[in-house]
Amino acid sequence: MDGPSILLPLCTRCLRLLSVVLVARVLAAAGCAPECNCSQFLTNCTGRQLRHFPAAIPLSTRQLILADNNISSLPALDLNYLGGLLHLDFSSNSLAEIPPSSLLNLQVLVYLDLSHNQLRKITHLTFRYLTNIIVLKASRNKELSFIDSRAFSANHKLQEIDISGNGLTFIDAGMLETLPHLRSVRLSGNPWTCNCNTQTLTSWMKLNRRIIPDAANVTCTFPSPLQGVLVVEAADKLFSLCRSKRQLKLREVLYFCLIGPGLFSASIILNLTFSLLMAHFNRFKKKELKRYRKLRRAISFKYSKRSNVITQEITAKANTNMSVCRGTECNQ
Ligand SMILES: *[C@@H]1O[C@H](CO)[C@@H](O)[C@H](O)[C@H]1NC(C)=O
Ligand SMILES: *[C@@H]1O[C@H](CO)[C@@H](O)[C@H](O)[C@H]1NC(C)=O
Ligand SMILES: *[C@@H]1O[C@H](CO)[C@@H](O)[C@H](O)[C@H]1NC(C)=O
Ligand SMILES: *[C@@H]1O[C@H](CO)[C@@H](O)[C@H](O)[C@H]1NC(C)=O
Repeated sequence: MDGPSILLPLCTRCLRLLSVVLVARVLAAAGCAPECNCSQFLTNCTGRQLRHFPAAIPLSTRQLILADNNISSLPALDLNYLGGLLHLDFSSNSLAEIPPSSLLNLQVLVYLDLSHNQLRKITHLTFRYLTNIIVLKASRNKELSFIDSRAFSANHKLQEIDISGNGLTFIDAGMLETLPHLRSVRLSGNPWTCNCNTQTLTSWMKLNRRIIPDAANVTCTFPSPLQGVLVVEAADKLFSLCRSKRQLKLREVLYFCLIGPGLFSASIILNLTFSLLMAHFNRFKKKELKRYRKLRRAISFKYSKRSNVITQEITAKANTNMSVCRGTECNQ
């Protein structure tokens, strides 16, 4: 009974404490860090060799520039105080990853530059909450080799994407196709793979050449025979090559679906016929054997009968001979 009445004031107290801490933090964040130049809406901290996100940024900031520093991680919370941020330039830093929570509250952000960092992948959560983003730059992240096919599924307002100069060998063209306002995609400087598995991408690039400003520099790197060939040119070769391959595959499928089972059933029928014949032959053989046995028995019976007769005759003869010889010299 006493439990809640004791806990309740305790809880309100800890809540009050928490909010005081939060407000203090927000107030601290509200000033202008000494490394930055702050005007009413612009906070510019370019090229200050910062290793960490600046401790104080005015809450009124609409444009935040942190370019040319050495910041290796985004803060979990601090960016989320800047709910009115429209423009964030984080280019030329050392970011290896972007925790999804750090961009959670940037719902009005329209411009994000993450170029020249050390990002390795873009997952389906990375830009999940940037529902108003229009320009997205993630070029020159040499190790960026994976972009999830759902990476932009929440970013319907995207108009410009720059993913040039990365380590991409493939991306799902479908994720670009579904962006209704897309009008520029930079793709050059990636080690693109041009084969039948990536054919949807190469075809997409060919069809959408007009929205790829650097299309004249988008080349294949793999496989080696196509190295240096423009992707839009490789797309034609791939189209016919992969079609004939598909036809070949179709033939194989046909073989396995029709000819294979045909041969199989033919062999079964042959087998069946053969075993039937064998069974018939065996029965015939058995019958013959039976007849043969019967015959042999009959012969042997006859023979034994005859031999009995002969033996009897011989014994009888011998007996008579013996009786004739008895007492005299039979050898003569
Ligand atoms: C930010 O500061 C840098 C260096 O002082 C300057 O070159 C750049 O033009 C500034 N950016 C803006 C938007 O004022
Ligand atoms: C801040 O402004 C001062 C004076 O205008 C300038 O010398 C300095 O380079 C600026 N710093 C940044 C980071 O923009
Ligand atoms: C950036 O920071 C890392 C350590 O976090 C350091 O090793 C490196 O020298 C720094 N680079 C520059 C250009 O300051
Ligand atoms: C293609 O690359 C060359 C050399 O890197 C560069 O000078 C040129 O401006 C690029 N063209 C386009 C359209 O990006």
